[in-house]
Order: sequence, then structure tokens, then C-alpha cells
Amino acid sequence: SHAAISDVLAGKHQVDQQITLKGWVRTVRSNPNFAFINLHDGSCFDPIQIVADNKLSNYAEVCKLTTSCSLSVTGKLVESLGKGQSFEIQAESIEIIGLVEDPDTYPMAPKRHSVEYLREHAHLRPRTNMIGAVTRVRNCLAQAIHRYFHENGFQWIATPIITASDCEGAGEMFRVSTLDMVNPPLKEDGKVDFAEDFFGKEAFLTVSGQLNVETYACALSKVYTFGPTFRAENSNTSRHLAEFWMVEPELAFADLADVASCAENMLKYVFKAVLAERMDDLEFFDLRIQKGLIERLKTLSEQEFVRMDYTDAIEILKNCGQKFEFPVEWGIDLSSEHERYLAEKHVGGPVILQNYPKDIKAFYMRLNDDNKTVAAMDVLAPGIGEIIGGSQREDRLDVLDERMIEVGLSPNDYYWYRDLRRYGSVPHGGFGLGFERLVAYVTGMQNVRDVIPFPRTPKSATF
Ligand code: 4AD
Ligand code: MG
Repeated sequence: SHAAISDVLAGKHQVDQQITLKGWVRTVRSNPNFAFINLHDGSCFDPIQIVADNKLSNYAEVCKLTTSCSLSVTGKLVESLGKGQSFEIQAESIEIIGLVEDPDTYPMAPKRHSVEYLREHAHLRPRTNMIGAVTRVRNCLAQAIHRYFHENGFQWIATPIITASDCEGAGEMFRVSTLDMVNPPLKEDGKVDFAEDFFGKEAFLTVSGQLNVETYACALSKVYTFGPTFRAENSNTSRHLAEFWMVEPELAFADLADVASCAENMLKYVFKAVLAERMDDLEFFDLRIQKGLIERLKTLSEQEFVRMDYTDAIEILKNCGQKFEFPVEWGIDLSSEHERYLAEKHVGGPVILQNYPKDIKAFYMRLNDDNKTVAAMDVLAPGIGEIIGGSQREDRLDVLDERMIEVGLSPNDYYWYRDLRRYGSVPHGGFGLGFERLVAYVTGMQNVRDVIPFPRTPKSATF
């Protein structure tokens, strides 16, 4: 068996003992006597140095190795005298497992590639320093999120990906159908007859697991769902994906303040986790992608998040003297320029914005006593804008019905959702964290397309 380079560099293996490592060549330097190979296996940011001398039977071939050739190296683990490296391997044998066919045309040659170029090579980009680092941070964040909820008594609920309900009411759902779309079965009125479809009715990919997870919150108290969600919104921006992952906790016996605290505590927990576990990758992002990133994460994981009412935010935006592309007045849905102004210029950190006008928010949010606003909250982050959207839910059946009718939903279609309000209704609420936006925020990466392995965006679903 072979060792992980992360364990070797962390000092978990005995010095002066024989060890086997398997991985890919990053770089090779050689002279007639010695070859120095940087070998990586993706387990950590740094490669390990392999020193080979010309007594190796295949020394000539070793000198000709190029980036991404795969190797099995057996040799002695020694402390390194070189700067910046704790350990290295004095090779006793190097088995060349796979050569790179044509090094001159290999698309991931060791130089800086643009993110656009890397997206076009989504199958090879995990081999780069940058995507490797993103991948490890993404994993660390996902594990930390599960750990946070587990430690705080939440149950993880698998909500369905195929659904009949449009949670956000934005009409941005991808249809799931087995009908022949060229010659679909038609009803008498000439419309497509979805009774003939696989599910006997219209079905879609979910935009959010919230409505389903509410049913479990109203029985198990503290729950969450964490899975893929889909939105057919035609937004070609650096923060929108057609397929993204969402973390959605839902708490029973909770009001808006409880929901906001949960969001703040969870974020701080995961910031601390990534600082504790992935400093190697964070150092790369700090150096190459965003200066001051590590300091910012440290501050964020300690400092209290500012809370602000939507109405106050509108006043701030109106009076700040900044020219916005979209004009500001009470009732508007904030654009990313507004969100970023509040977080970046006004607060200088994340801000929890609360109590939005009901007309720009979804039907399920609890109506406030002013009858104009709902108990909604968004977490806005510098550099990216909204990373979390949540609310206290409408737990009063009559108010919920009124709202559904107002926005054109049929209460009958949501009988199961209404039942939660009929049988032992409780104040409850939760939020949705856009996981890719979190990863982008933590790494400083500018575009969510570069923090998910295979991005799905308008006119693009290759690989
Ligand atoms: O604000 P949204 O639409 O809220 C909901 O879906 C609620 N049902 C969540 C809940 O209360 N359980 O979406 C939540 C978050 C946003 O704040 C954003 O971070 C992310 O999901 N998001 C997207 N991320 C990437 N690409 C998109 N197209 C996104 N749309 C929303
Ligand atoms: Mg939102």
C-alpha cells in the first residue's frame, strides 16, 4: 500500500523508513547526476520532492518525465534541508505508470491558465493548483456544515429532486417529462395532456427543498436538507448556476431572530473549520486570488454580524450619494449592486437584512403586523451579495390561504402544506444557503462556475 502525501508532509510517517507514494509529476529538474521531481496526489496543496540519482536503472527515462506523468515511487523518507519543505523522498525505485502522450499539446501545461480556458477543459482542470484547492475547501465546507448540524441536534432529511410544486413561485422550473415533445398527447382544448405523462401530472426539478423539509421540522423540530437544486433562470452572471447545491435548515418553535442566529452561528462554525483544516489552500487563495482573505475569515469567525431592516437599508442607499444602475425606492427587489454597497461600503462585512416588502417575497413568508412586510432575512456578503435567503414561515392557515390566492396559487394543490397549519401548527422558519456562493466567498473566487466541478449555465451543459 502507499501513503498520502498530506500525511507524509504532516509528519505522520517515520523518518529514515522506506515508503511508497503514488501520484502525478508536477515538475522535473535534472542534471547528469540528480533529478528532482515534484510529485502531488491531490491530498494537500503542496507536492513532495522526490530526489532520484543516476544509479536508478531507469534514470534516463526519469529525466524525461513531464507534467502529469503518473508514478509509483519507493524510497527513504528524510527530513529536507531545502527551504519550505519539511520532508523529501530519496528514491530507490521509480515505476512510471502512465506517460503523457504529447507533452507539447497537453492542455494543462504548468503555467497560468485563464478561468475561461479551464472551464473549457472541465475534465482536466481538477489537476491544476487552483481547482485542486477549491475542491478541498469545498469538501471541508460541506463536511463542516454536516458536522455543525449534527452537533446541534438537527436531522438530515433527503428531500425530493423531482417535485410538482414551485417553492419560490418564480416560474423557473425545468420540466421532467417522458412525453414525446414533438407530437405530445393533447387535451380537447389543444393543450398538452400531462395526465399521459410519467407522473400523471406536470413534474419539475426542485428549486428548493424547503416546503418538503418543513413537514419534517413540524415533527422532528430541527432538520436540514443539503442537496442539488435547479433553476431555469436565464441569468448569465458570476453568481448564478442552473444547477447548484443548497443547504436548508428548518427549525420548529423558532422566529426570525432564531433563524438569523442559526445562519450566523453556522457560518462562523464553517469559517473556523476551514481556517483550522485548509490553511495550505487558503494561503494560495490569499496570495493568488484575494489579498487579505485569511485575515478576513478570522475576523468573520469572531465578529457579530450586523442586522438591519430593509426599510433602513433603503434609506441608507437613497442617501449615500452613490449612483446606482437601478434606482432605489421602498418596494424594490435589491440588485446585487445595492447588496454589495451595503455589505462592502456601509457595513464592511456581512449584513443580515430583515423584514422585506411582502410583494417581492415568496408566499410562505410570515406577514408582519404592519401588513406590508414579511419576516424575511437575507445574509449579504461583501464581494458577492446574497448568500443566504430565509424567513419565518406563515403558520396561520387563514393568512397563508389569503397570500396563496393573492399570488395565484391554488390552496388545494398545497393541501399537504396547509395540513401543517391545521394539525398542531407552530412558529417555524429556516433559510437556504447557496453552497457555491459560500465556496466562492471563502476562497475569493470570482465566479461560482469555478467552484462547482461541472457548472451548468445557459447554453452550456458539456461533460
Ligand atoms: O433566496 P432563495 O431563492 O431562497 C429559497 O430558495 C428558500 N426556499 C430557502 C429557504 O428558506 N429554505 O435561495 C437561497 C439561496 C440564495 O441566497 C443564493 O445563495 C442561492 O440560494 N441561489 C443560487 N445560487 C447559485 N445559482 C443560483 N441560480 C441561485 N439562486 C439562489
Ligand atoms: Mg433570495
